[in-house]
Amino acid sequence: MKAVSIAPHIWALHSDVDSGDLFEGIWPIPGGVSLNSYLVKGEKTALIDLVRDWDGAAATLEAGVLDAGADIASIDFLVLNHIEPDHSGWLREFRAKNPGATIIATAKGIELVKSFYKIEEGLRVVKSGDTLDLGGGINLLFEEAPNVHWPETMMTYCPTAGVLFSCDAFGSYGKLGDRIFDDQFTPAEHVTYEKESLRYYTNIVSSFGLFVKRAIAKIATHQVKIVAPSHGVIWRTNPQTIIDRYSKYASWLEGGRDKEICVVWGSMYGNTERGLKAVTAGIESEGVKWVSHRVPNVDASYILTDAYRCEGLVIAMPTYEYRMFPPMAYVLDLMDRKHVWGRKVLRIGSWGWIGGAKKEYDERVAPLKWEAVDPVEWAGAADDATLAKLREQGAELARRVKAAL
Ligand code: FEO
Repeated sequence: MKAVSIAPHIWALHSDVDSGDLFEGIWPIPGGVSLNSYLVKGEKTALIDLVRDWDGAAATLEAGVLDAGADIASIDFLVLNHIEPDHSGWLREFRAKNPGATIIATAKGIELVKSFYKIEEGLRVVKSGDTLDLGGGINLLFEEAPNVHWPETMMTYCPTAGVLFSCDAFGSYGKLGDRIFDDQFTPAEHVTYEKESLRYYTNIVSSFGLFVKRAIAKIATHQVKIVAPSHGVIWRTNPQTIIDRYSKYASWLEGGRDKEICVVWGSMYGNTERGLKAVTAGIESEGVKWVSHRVPNVDASYILTDAYRCEGLVIAMPTYEYRMFPPMAYVLDLMDRKHVWGRKVLRIGSWGWIGGAKKEYDERVAPLKWEAVDPVEWAGAADDATLAKLREQGAELARRVKAAL
């Protein structure tokens, strides 16, 4: 991939990963993902963030550095905003090619460089407010952004160009191809990117929403003209769009979520599914939109995305061997980890010879502080009275979602 100038003295070097691998070994990325690095040249040269040698990314990075008129061996400073291996995995190979470059990270970042890569020399710790003078009037300013995504994370800002190298913050799934800037994509492509930004946020960053808010407050003190994240589109025309989008996602921790309902369901022989149809009829009777995901058929990555944005949830599953339907247990565990808290929720489900899902469900969702609509359970096939109750509870959930702040 060619180096692309994004401002005087600054080039974007991006590698598209389209290998079919899972991101973090968990999350599907059918549209790929980009690993973005940046080269900043004053009298000295800084490379901001590395790559993991993944689907040819290291060779692409080397070619991009050459295209920008430098080479790996001539880089003076390697700035590592974040040590997760998608941005640092090639560090030992980099060090072998360039033993003299100073590696810059936060104190926690330097500790991770030592533990992951066993590198002990040529390391510099920086903290918020520290600067790096590259000469020729080009400076870099560092701002710690802990927990966006790991505790060691920082952002780097170039005041002369107004470029914020934000690392994971403001990133997205999705490979880029030959276009990298927000103004180069069609409205339809932006719709896809927005969905993938939210899916990336819920999968990767949502556990750290409070820290996202703090990071956004910090960068508000700078005049950001270009948001240059480590994954996805570079925002040069409307940088506030992605900042506002992340701000909204972080605010969903407290409320203001979409007044819609995410239905998560599993069914063994159709009895829970038939009951669910009565629930969704009740939801529709109140004019509330709903979206449905069946477990385990739909990957949890997508379920989390809708659960995170929706005010209401329906959890529909049968009892399975005295306990919950197993794939639902996995999804509920992720909802806790990713802070899908405070939702209005209706649980329904059938059982065969004996119930049991309720006990495990109640224990598992207790930390999520969900507001429960009275659940409905039944043996075998739902009779007419049960179906009527299911419809009414669906309508009740919809009313509560509409009334939410
Ligand atoms: Fe893109 Fe948290 O690494």
